[in-house]
Amino acid sequence: MWGGRFAGGPAELMREINCSIGVDKRLWRQDIAGSRAHAAMLKAQGVLTTEDAAAIDAGLSTIADEYAAGKLVEDPALEDIHMHIEHRLGELIGPAAGRLHTARSRNDQVVTDFKLFVRDCIDEAVAALAELEDALLARAEEHAGSIMPGFTHLQSAQPVTLGHHLLAYREMAVRDRSRFADARARLNESPLGSAALAGTGFPIDRKATAEALGFDRPTANSLDAVSDRDFAVDYLHAATLCSVHLSRLAEEIVMWASQPFSFIALPDAWSTGSSIMPNKRNPDAAELVRGHSARILGDLVSLLVLLKGLPLAYSKDLQNDKPPLFDAHDLLMISLQATAGMIRDLTFRTDRMRAVAAAGHATATDLADWLVREADVPFREAHHIAGRAVALADERGAALDELSLSDLQGVDPRITEAALGVLSVEASVAARRSFGGTAPDQVRAAVAAARGSRQ
Ligand code: ARG
Repeated sequence: MWGGRFAGGPAELMREINCSIGVDKRLWRQDIAGSRAHAAMLKAQGVLTTEDAAAIDAGLSTIADEYAAGKLVEDPALEDIHMHIEHRLGELIGPAAGRLHTARSRNDQVVTDFKLFVRDCIDEAVAALAELEDALLARAEEHAGSIMPGFTHLQSAQPVTLGHHLLAYREMAVRDRSRFADARARLNESPLGSAALAGTGFPIDRKATAEALGFDRPTANSLDAVSDRDFAVDYLHAATLCSVHLSRLAEEIVMWASQPFSFIALPDAWSTGSSIMPNKRNPDAAELVRGHSARILGDLVSLLVLLKGLPLAYSKDLQNDKPPLFDAHDLLMISLQATAGMIRDLTFRTDRMRAVAAAGHATATDLADWLVREADVPFREAHHIAGRAVALADERGAALDELSLSDLQGVDPRITEAALGVLSVEASVAARRSFGGTAPDQVRAAVAAARGSRQ
């Protein structure tokens, strides 16, 4: 398609290094949509005759049917998806096919296709995130009052409710959705009509093609438009952070399914066995979600490094923008879906969580708070008194709430019978009613608010 100025053909390896059809064939739908919009605009502007435009449109529609039926024939000599489609169009309608590329270059064509593709990726990720949020909300509602240990430094800190813990991940998912929405809004300008780099002398209507393809407006600078891949970086950043959140949740699933924790049981559907150890039941899906996040982060870094030394405008380096994006999107989608599936189907062993919720004297802060509230002790001093009660419990090999009133009064005489009431894990979580806190009522209110905000 570009051989006019050459006497010889490319070396075999030249062909091989140049060829991208194996990867960019995923853009065929977007490429056909872009070409149809471009041809319709050229006709409206009087650049294409009605007959040529009709033949081009019918030919592209036939190719769409062929490709949908799996009939794309890959030919390394045709480099990429754009040339494959144009070549096939030529076979179908003859020389009129050669008029489609008027006022266009593969440089604005490929970035238009890629933007349309990334826009769909964003919509798919947002829908999958909404599914995950639904799963988290349902389980949080179910376990608004189930008590588990809350950790800092992975040491028992204060008891929390399981519903509250699950809603923490829902907050991350909400921010992820909003990051994807930001990326979509910024992406939605049409590069089509920027041509190779400088625009075109043909009387094109860029607003018309932008509108036909669902873009908000045409891009403002042709040099920027053909070399900009910020939208793919934005997507990859949102995908990376989302996958990091999934990885943190996956890590908890792995940990909680381990025998020493035994906080959850994964059903058969989400477990795998070992080829040597008949006893094994492994959380491979969660481990892979955790592992996939490493690859997605690598994909983001790969694209950023690809861009960082590129002069304006298009360079062929940019052909390497697609593999990381496709890889990250595929990994993110399966990670989101598998995580939602695990959350929906796993069993929470609330008896076990409740049994260890008080471990590590997790209600010591409640004793200190009681001294502040009921005996007007300054918090620093109250902290010290509760700390001495913890030391005494350790000395006795007992839990804090197993100490007798006289033991506690030996630590500080201002402690009365009423203080014993705040030492249970139930009293501890019920007290934390501050907005955004772990009390069962707050969790129920948060679930209701989350449902309301989704209407
Ligand atoms: N296959 C190329 C890519 O993905 C399309 C653009 C090629 N443009 C060019 N002038 N060689 O980036």
